[in-house]
Amino acid sequence: MDEHDIARVIKAYDQAARRCEEGGLDGIETLAAGHIIGQFLSPKTNHRTDRFGGSLENRVRFALMVHEEIRRNVSDGFIVGMRYVVDEGIDGELSAEECLAAAQILEREGAVDFFNALFGSMDTSRSLSEEVFPGMGMPAAPWVAAVGLFKRAVNLPVFHAAKLSDMASARFAVSEGHVDMAGLTRPHITDPHMVAKLMRGEEHRIRPCVGDVLIWDNTGRHPALLAAQVAQAEGANVRLTTIDVNIGQDLVYPESTRWHKEFAKSGLRPEGNLRLTGVTRKGNKLEATLMNELTHDIERQIYDQVIVEMGTIPMNELFDELRGQSANDGVTDLHALKNLEPQPRRGKGYELHRIGDAQSSRNIHAAVYDALRLCSVA
Ligand SMILES: Cc1cc2nc3c(=O)[nH]c(=O)nc-3n(C[C@H](O)[C@H](O)[C@H](O)COP(=O)(O)O)c2cc1C
Repeated sequence: MDEHDIARVIKAYDQAARRCEEGGLDGIETLAAGHIIGQFLSPKTNHRTDRFGGSLENRVRFALMVHEEIRRNVSDGFIVGMRYVVDEGIDGELSAEECLAAAQILEREGAVDFFNALFGSMDTSRSLSEEVFPGMGMPAAPWVAAVGLFKRAVNLPVFHAAKLSDMASARFAVSEGHVDMAGLTRPHITDPHMVAKLMRGEEHRIRPCVGDVLIWDNTGRHPALLAAQVAQAEGANVRLTTIDVNIGQDLVYPESTRWHKEFAKSGLRPEGNLRLTGVTRKGNKLEATLMNELTHDIERQIYDQVIVEMGTIPMNELFDELRGQSANDGVTDLHALKNLEPQPRRGKGYELHRIGDAQSSRNIHAAVYDALRLCSVA
């Protein structure tokens, strides 16, 4: 980028800010961390030798120019903050000290009204999933203390969002003085009614955005195992249980072996001979009761989520409506089906057969196969 490019990009920031104000917003934040303002700030990405590179004063110049231009063109009451990295962590090169020094320059120059603090760099999958967007396997509120150190060294309000997964974590971050405002992103996706419930005094009804998951399989087929695999990949702490002796009991040998291999690799140890006998709500968690089928021992444990696979219930309403006018009263001659012979017709009307999910909790392949056999000899 030469000076012309820089001027053009600064203008674009300014125009975007003005559109936000015209659109009725109270304020905006620029996203510094990992994005262009942050790329100027960090020695990892800024290798310039002109007045925008080298010393910290030079590297912060672009941020100052962007915010100066925005300030010049929005009204006085319009709030302008910055989503700002307080430490680039092990994959970055901007230390906590330099981040703070740059923030103090931004504050001194009146460039920002608040900092929305982030920890980590955005350049690697590891830093994204452990630092910027800590996954479910990460501890709660991992960067609150680091953000707190930053907040105490600046005089502007500091916000922060990174796995403040529940009200307790958010309350802790604010009440201990680590942040002025706690941000929760994924918890709002988990429960969009979170704020309404909190305001109604129903905090215990907020669906938690954390990951102790019990999966109970009562069919011995793929769905529960797939759910376990997906939940585990998302970082949840998964317990996989089954009524059968072991998982995949209703699958053919190579399929069940594949699942055993998958879980051996991921470290998930399925447990057999367990019957889920009840699930009751405990605050915003769930208490599940499991009975060992062999010993009849009972255990109760608290989980965030319980996933139960019990197949499907046949949908036979349409079948029941149609059978009165059918030639075969909806009865399939199994002998003819097996021998690939035409179905006997006893009266007037259409032939009606019950296959797939109208018959029982069976998979789609069985339904397609039955239909093929029936139709190919009709
Ligand atoms: C679907 C989704 C979209 C996001 N988009 C943005 C974005 O546009 N800008 C941004 O600064 N952060 C964005 N984030 C990151 C969040 O602001 C937040 O830093 C991150 O989710 C960690 O907070 P949480 O643990 O409360 O979810 C996004 C997060 C999610 C889940």
